[in-house]
Amino acid sequence: MPDVLVLNGPNLNLLGTRKPEVYGTTTLADLEDLCRRTAGDLGLDAVCRQSNHEGQIIDWIHEFGAAQQAGTCVGAVYNPGAHTHTSIAIHDAIEGAQLRVIEVHISNVHRREPFRHHSYVSPVAAGTIVGLGVHGYALALHALSQGS
Ligand code: DQA
Repeated sequence: MPDVLVLNGPNLNLLGTRKPEVYGTTTLADLEDLCRRTAGDLGLDAVCRQSNHEGQIIDWIHEFGAAQQAGTCVGAVYNPGAHTHTSIAIHDAIEGAQLRVIEVHISNVHRREPFRHHSYVSPVAAGTIVGLGVHGYALALHALSQGS
């Protein structure tokens, strides 16, 4: 089965306890289980990664971009957390590695503070899903399985 990367950026290890009124009560472990089950139903093997460190995330983007070029990975479901709004380095990594990315945000960033309205990731993403809670990850997996 081809791989699909499920990548979560900084602070998403705190899911379940961090601002539950915004991000809900699902933990990262529960979310990753949901992604593994959904991916399995779609004939994909979910490889789940989370880091609070930009360099580590860039290394994984390079690694899975190469796997995609080699035909062993269909792309990534990626919640960049606050890197969304700050990181040109992550924008460049996705573009450079040519990794197919569906950008997911649990909350509707456009209804929140103005500094969350701009994304450095969206211009290099195949698509974006915002504000649908953890269900957004499942929708993104479906999109990648269809070749989006
Ligand atoms: C987030 C939105 C970001 O603005 C925030 O920094 C996060 C989570 C979301 O999933 O809604 O860490 O990406």
